Amino acid sequence: MKILVTGGLGFIGSHTVIELQNEGYEVVIIDNCSNSSEDVLVGIENITGKAPIFEKMDLRDRSKVTNFFKKHSDIVGVIHFAASKAVGESVQIPLTYYENNIGTLVYLLQELQEKTEASFIFSSSCTVYGQADELPITEAAPVKPAESPYGNTKQIGEEIIRDTCKIAPQLKAIALRYFNPIGAHESVEIGELPLGVPQNLVPFITQTAIGLREKLSVFGDDYPTTDGTCVRDYIHVVDLAKAHVIALNRLIKNQNKSNYEVFNIGTGTGSSVLEVIQSFERVSGEKLNYAIAPRREGDVTAAFADTTLANNELGWKAELTLDNAMSSAWKWEQKVRNT
Ligand code: UD1
Repeated sequence: MKILVTGGLGFIGSHTVIELQNEGYEVVIIDNCSNSSEDVLVGIENITGKAPIFEKMDLRDRSKVTNFFKKHSDIVGVIHFAASKAVGESVQIPLTYYENNIGTLVYLLQELQEKTEASFIFSSSCTVYGQADELPITEAAPVKPAESPYGNTKQIGEEIIRDTCKIAPQLKAIALRYFNPIGAHESVEIGELPLGVPQNLVPFITQTAIGLREKLSVFGDDYPTTDGTCVRDYIHVVDLAKAHVIALNRLIKNQNKSNYEVFNIGTGTGSSVLEVIQSFERVSGEKLNYAIAPRREGDVTAAFADTTLANNELGWKAELTLDNAMSSAWKWEQKVRNT
């Protein structure tokens, strides 16, 4: 069965392609390489022994999208990762974010609603919950006003899919609300490759340890948490990738309970910034240079998932630990810098 993975050369996309191929799916990747490299194809082939079909293409080009679906009329499912994801940048260039994240979603759904049957998995985010009133966060927690255009694209994206599913019963969709994806494939053939200065915690830690950054700033130690630093639910990217395949299988086998469903994908455990640093130091044997800095605007105090729904309905559970993730992220950083 042929599956389209948009953004399949990116961090989460590439790990998901591996799991899809391991499951026997035929994968076609669309990626415009704006934040990824074609070299990732080599890593995928080294791991699975099979190169996915690759179309270098920009999904903002409506006619190309239509031609693509004509050419690959046997596609039965789409996992849609292609999107811009830098929160700060989205505030500076909101229309680029709306065009990249919303425009392309609309084009894909327009193609899929023409099919007699189609399955669609959407990359959503725990950012839709903002600072949730109750922890752990269930899917029933209210969606809070978005703090950034990036966050808004995830909220609007979910609404667009829900509205489309209402009028297109042959379309089956699942939105996966990811918590904080980290780590790399154990083979270290693929991993996270942030362009420029990383905004996310784990690549900043590994780049500091390797000597690329002078020190890590811990954004705030006066939050109402056990050690004063923010708490997040860090999920190993391989566990997250597996959740996509399980969600897709559910749709393809018609095991879904409605044609639009939402699941949290996290570990269910919150870790503070200092706990992440301790994990890194434990598994790497390195001492990290860090200092407490002021809070970062827009950060929520704590967010971690209630994963009961994903556990019960999908039969999925995160299996890898924070230490596993930090160890793989460190091995990957060392490989990328050839040390
Ligand atoms: C961020 C986005 C989120 C998005 C996700 C995508 C915000 C507010 N949220 O999540 O919407 O889905 O990225 O990857 O930007 N930290 C430091 N020092 C650093 C970097 C981070 O202390 O140099 C801390 C942060 O304050 C936070 C934690 O580490 O407490 C995780 O930060 P990060 O990796 O950026 O993820 P989020 O902010 O949770």
